Amino acid sequence: MGRLEDRFAVITGGASGIGRAIAKAYLVEGAEVLIADLNAKLAAQTAKELQKFGKAYAFACDVTKLSDVKALSEEALRVLGKVNVLINNAGLSGRGLIYEIEEDTIDALLNVNLKGVIICAKVFAPILKNSKDAIMINMSSQAGKRGWAELSVYGATKSGVLGMNRALAVELAPEVRVNAICPGYISEVGMAWRGWDLRSKKEGGNAESIGAKFAVDNIPLERLQTAEDIARSAVFLGSIDAKEITGAALNVGGGVVMD
Ligand SMILES: NC(=O)c1ccc[n+]([C@@H]2O[C@H](COP(=O)([O-])OP(=O)(O)OC[C@H]3O[C@@H](n4cnc5c(N)ncnc54)[C@H](O)[C@@H]3O)[C@@H](O)[C@H]2O)c1
Repeated sequence: MGRLEDRFAVITGGASGIGRAIAKAYLVEGAEVLIADLNAKLAAQTAKELQKFGKAYAFACDVTKLSDVKALSEEALRVLGKVNVLINNAGLSGRGLIYEIEEDTIDALLNVNLKGVIICAKVFAPILKNSKDAIMINMSSQAGKRGWAELSVYGATKSGVLGMNRALAVELAPEVRVNAICPGYISEVGMAWRGWDLRSKKEGGNAESIGAKFAVDNIPLERLQTAEDIARSAVFLGSIDAKEITGAALNVGGGVVMD
């Protein structure tokens, strides 16, 4: 028996990276999942690839659009029968000094990372509350808790997610537990990896060795994290083992942020 039997999960941004790893881990633990992603083709492909682990479905959706998210909730109830897990994972990276960052980048970050999370929470809150024993997991970042140069706007969106997380943990209790995850530097997918890539272009060397050296110099556990590490914490938060935890923001970053 898996740890997530009877869990019916909608995972935004589930087509790739951390979201994909969470979808796989949830399936392996017995959940059914609906992958919601802007990238329709990749979402369908990911769902197909993950079907060997359990019941996986895909739906094309832009989390910044209320009409898309309403359609997602209808599709989720249709294919899953019920929804008792929402994982607000879709997000964008975007760096820049505050006096240089483009308005388009500011808008995109605020829209996807913050408005998108709020809209999904708004649409799914009544559905989750109705299912009595439900979970919302909001993907924040260590940048939501600590300052890094060039991440002021990204950090603002991720701090915003934590503000919503705390408020909803009160507002949606006792039926819904609401928790956030603050991932560290992820080695092989997504944003951190693209960061090492950029540095390797500027400074020479390869992205992997830059990442590894960075980890030894800056991370107490001296290693980067993987998407699977984040997925394991999402499984924990979704399981009975976390039944008394709500309003938390779990650092999964090897000790870079401690609070
Ligand atoms: N990778 C890291 O180092 C890291 C660190 C801290 C936090 N995070 C957070 O983890 C989450 C996932 O990041 P990742 O590294 O796996 O990124 P990723 O780019 O690999 O995956 C993000 C997914 O979100 C989807 N997406 C983007 N905009 C969307 C929209 N408007 N509607 C629906 N889907 C959309 C993309 O198509 C993609 O499949 C993000 O919220 C990110 O901020 C990542």
